[in-house]
Amino acid sequence: MLKDFVTYDGVSVPAVGLGTWQSAPADCYNAVRWALDAGYRHIDTAHAYGNEADVGRAVRDSGIPREQVFITTKLPSHIKDEKGTERHLTESLRNLGMDYVDLYLIHAPWPWSEIGKDCTEGNIVAWRTMLDLQIRGFIRCCGVSNFLPTDIKPLLEATGTMPAVNQIRYFIGNTQRETTFYCQENGILVEAYSPLATGNILDNDVLAEIAARYNASVAQLCIAYCLHKGTLPLPKSVNKARIEQNLAVDFALSESDVALLDGMDGIGPFRKLRS
Ligand code: A2P
Repeated sequence: MLKDFVTYDGVSVPAVGLGTWQSAPADCYNAVRWALDAGYRHIDTAHAYGNEADVGRAVRDSGIPREQVFITTKLPSHIKDEKGTERHLTESLRNLGMDYVDLYLIHAPWPWSEIGKDCTEGNIVAWRTMLDLQIRGFIRCCGVSNFLPTDIKPLLEATGTMPAVNQIRYFIGNTQRETTFYCQENGILVEAYSPLATGNILDNDVLAEIAARYNASVAQLCIAYCLHKGTLPLPKSVNKARIEQNLAVDFALSESDVALLDGMDGIGPFRKLRS
């Protein structure tokens, strides 16, 4: 049984969450049902994914009490004002059919259409608004996504409150060392989205060789690596068998294999989010 993570403000977060980025609404419902049947108690969605309603319906239909499932959703990246933040959370809750979310994240420090733009002031406004919505009971835990330390520090300076979570793109060969170190030093839980590199490193021969030592698949190795590093993996799948497989990762990697994996910087064909 995998141990929950706990945020600095004392909220338990189940150790592997189902990612739903790029899960079409038509597939998302079944994926969440299968995940809950398999034992997942953590589902990650976003307003921008267009599948919040399917996530909510699947949770309800599962019959599992709402408070036993950890639900994350996200404020769209271009919303950086008070009214917009309130309106989008309200909309997400309506989509989900829920009266609170467990974790609400600023999806990115800048609009996806303007990567790298300085939106510090807007992020502070959104962050203050989220903290207020948390006090009002609509959010259990507030966090950010795709933030660098330089994006996080102004939030702390302005409000005195640190994000509980930073959800970043994190997989073997792409571990954003500086950001991960800063977050973990400051008690911010790092969640790993795209822990399988959106599928792009699963045919890597070195990874296959290491995975074989544990009778595991490369996907399982990727997930186990995140856990070893103290990051919370959010593997996405819409396939029942793969969803089940991605939760069966309760094995310990040897230090020598971790050292090998740590040295695999740059595998996979990826563009940088910032220049
Ligand atoms: P599918 O949804 O058809 O299972 P990431 O979590 O990094 O975003 O990766 C998601 C990609 O990896 C999707 O293409 C998903 O396809 C695939 N995937 C998820 N789990 C596994 C697995 N256990 N084995 C192989 N591919 C997987």
